[in-house]
Amino acid sequence: MPGRLIVLEGGDGSGKTTLTAALAALLGAEGHEVVATREPGGTPEGLVLRSLLLAESGTAWEAEAELLLITAARVQHVRRVISPALARGAVVLCDRFIGSTLAYQGGGSFIDPAIILGLHRDLVGDIWPDATLLLDLDPASALARSRARLAAAGHDEGRFEARDIDYHARVREAFLALARAYPGWTVLDAARPPEALLNAARAALAPLFPG
Ligand SMILES: Nc1ncnc2c1ncn2[C@@H]1O[C@H](COP(=O)(O)OP(=O)(O)O)[C@@H](O)[C@H]1O
Ligand SMILES: [Mg+2]
Repeated sequence: MPGRLIVLEGGDGSGKTTLTAALAALLGAEGHEVVATREPGGTPEGLVLRSLLLAESGTAWEAEAELLLITAARVQHVRRVISPALARGAVVLCDRFIGSTLAYQGGGSFIDPAIILGLHRDLVGDIWPDATLLLDLDPASALARSRARLAAAGHDEGRFEARDIDYHARVREAFLALARAYPGWTVLDAARPPEALLNAARAALAPLFPG
């Protein structure tokens, strides 16, 4: 497809949403049509599923059920938003994608990655990121950032924020293992200030925009 699919991955509080917005503005100013979107979400159906997954109390999904809900949201998102945007040549910036599923439901919750990849290939479609930027941050700093953000918004700890530090450490290691295994992944030190991260991100994407 003529467009480019650029994915931002990393733990909660690592700065994905902040960097997505900054990159969207930068690439837009360079003249690209940019579609900035996120998972789970990105469609009305995805937002309904997101609200089910992030519910603060009363629900406790089994990891496999969580995987199916997230995959359902991704099917809607790819068919209705991502693929059409790529087909018309847009740059799609997606805040979380298959990498998050492999890190959280795979590394964090021990689901076999072959199942996750199979669902993607068979149900979502043969669509993979052209580049993935991993915002790597130690879980304690990331947790402090997202707690501050949640407190500012008047919320208690979110669903994923509330899990123990071992879980977050497994997720971080799984993300780093993905970055070692797959070409097209770039690890960015997310402890740096936003402007430095934006510059590093743009430099990492240079091969996607020759000339
Ligand atoms: N590079 C950075 N350095 C310090 N704080 C940051 C940085 N990027 C984002 N933040 C702050 O950290 C919090 C989480 O950032 P956010 O972009 O929402 O992360 P994510 O989308 O990965 O959960 C926000 O309050 C944001 O303002
Ligand atoms: Mg975010």
